[in-house]
Amino acid sequence: GPLTTCVVTGAAGFVGSHLCERLLSLGHTVVGVDNFFSGRPENLKTFASHPRFFFHERSVTETGLLTALKDQHGPVFAVFHLAAIVSVPYSLERPEETFLVNTQATLLLLEEAEVLGVRNFVFAGSAAEYGDRDRMPLTEADANEETRWLSPYGEAKYRASVAVASRRGSLCGVSLRCFNIYGPRQDPSSPYSGVISRFVNMAVAQRPLTIFGDGLQTRDFVFVSDVVDAYCLAGLRDDKDDIKRTSGVFNVGSGRATSIVNLARLICRLTHRPESITFGPERPGDIRHSTANIEAITRVLQWKPRIGLKDGLTRTIQWM
Ligand code: UD1
Repeated sequence: GPLTTCVVTGAAGFVGSHLCERLLSLGHTVVGVDNFFSGRPENLKTFASHPRFFFHERSVTETGLLTALKDQHGPVFAVFHLAAIVSVPYSLERPEETFLVNTQATLLLLEEAEVLGVRNFVFAGSAAEYGDRDRMPLTEADANEETRWLSPYGEAKYRASVAVASRRGSLCGVSLRCFNIYGPRQDPSSPYSGVISRFVNMAVAQRPLTIFGDGLQTRDFVFVSDVVDAYCLAGLRDDKDDIKRTSGVFNVGSGRATSIVNLARLICRLTHRPESITFGPERPGDIRHSTANIEAITRVLQWKPRIGLKDGLTRTIQWM
């Protein structure tokens, strides 16, 4: 495809930083935005001084942000909007702030992008948009107005996803409803960090892994480079690539369920630790099961996950 200028919000985040790196390696110019609320400067290290990378320490809630970026860097082909309040527990404490950042800022950015002639707008959706469900795997239509969300985070992401996916103009909007992403740069340091980063961190430090609840809850784990593949397929599409370039929402997952206790055992094995696992109380707001149906993204974007759990865990352990 042609070489473009892309805006990545949340550029200093776990997924955003990997996406910037990939876009740069494909030859694109990348304008990164992050206010370091949860993003970390060290995530930018490997590409901060790349000649085609430009960074702005700003918040996506600032009005006129895209216009200012366009004035400085020229026309923008794609906006990858990953900046968000990322913590479910934090969203329960600060619901207004969560809607402001995760929903309202997205709607304003979307409007501004359309006015500025941006072709593709790709949004970081979440499996949390489905709330708690019994029937697996989850298909895109399973999140709807009847859904009972377990957190403001889930509802805020849902509202933004719907706005992005219902775009019918010159701008194509895609929401990638990501399941449990893991890999290098995922911060293990908070009690709310992703389970894989926490388990790998504890195993390497020779501390017992702590399971919240009975460990039979399941998640769909997808490696970060596979998620970056999906972002690129969605955001770099051109009319010439695909006449039926339409807006929509797509699950991004492995399509496989892994129980937390099996995950813990696997991580102990891969780090050559004896199985040292303890059980604590169930975590409030936790959903029981989560598995993605990935037929839609496979059909429309020809995406498929490449990195299996064992391989992805090995890479994560090496990084840690
Ligand atoms: C995760 C993401 C969320 C995303 C969602 C999509 C993180 C921090 N959260 O939420 O942003 O929208 O997936 O599916 O990445 N657990 C333990 N021990 C631990 C840590 C966790 O047993 O030390 C358990 C939890 O109780 C939970 C499961 O592991 O049952 C997964 O937890 P977590 O990694 O925090 O992810 P989600 O809550 O699924």
